[in-house]
Amino acid sequence: MQTTYQMFVETSVPSDELIISRTDLSGKITYANETFARISGYAIDELIGKPHNIVRHPDMPHSVFKTLWETLGRGEMWKGYVKNLRKDGGYYWVYAEVSGVYKDGVLVEYKSLRAPMDEETKIKMQREYDECKKDEENTSRAVIYLQSSLVEKIEKLAREKNRPADEIINEILSDTLF
Ligand SMILES: Cc1cc2nc3c(=O)[nH]c(=O)nc-3n(C[C@H](O)[C@H](O)[C@H](O)COP(=O)(O)O)c2cc1C
Repeated sequence: MQTTYQMFVETSVPSDELIISRTDLSGKITYANETFARISGYAIDELIGKPHNIVRHPDMPHSVFKTLWETLGRGEMWKGYVKNLRKDGGYYWVYAEVSGVYKDGVLVEYKSLRAPMDEETKIKMQREYDECKKDEENTSRAVIYLQSSLVEKIEKLAREKNRPADEIINEILSDTLF
């Protein structure tokens, strides 16, 4: 559970800009352009050396990235739509192309170029990914309004148990209802 209002705030990628990054073969960021830093809300040096899943959004199904790595493993380019997480908890959607960087015929890195996408496609992909998560991971996205005192108690419990608050809510609801 993320209790920041930023979670629902979208940052748009300007239509004349590209987000560019490169990673080593394990997916650690080796290069990030200024647009990537600005749109993700991180400083460039906060991104370098970090695994690329630093911007992974919880709405993204695991299977998308499984396919991405399988495609790269075959030496092919992966293309797709990705919802990414900003440092402040907000999000941004991109159309991404990820492929290998070769030096003298040897794979040395991966690179990714990401461009803005239209509103209609974002809505379509959000629905598709919600369905995927339901089918593959048995989870559904839900927005609920809870009394603040209850939220505070749940967050305290989550901190004490060092577990995500949404897991605790899940358990409480399951125990109470079923
Ligand atoms: C060049 C390159 C760019 C990537 N860009 C993103 C990205 O923008 N967002 C993202 O969530 N994962 C991206 N990934 C995939 C991540 O490495 C990772 O597999 C993914 O975030 C899922 O995280 P997980 O494997 O920890 O579940 C990229 C991978 C490569 C090789």
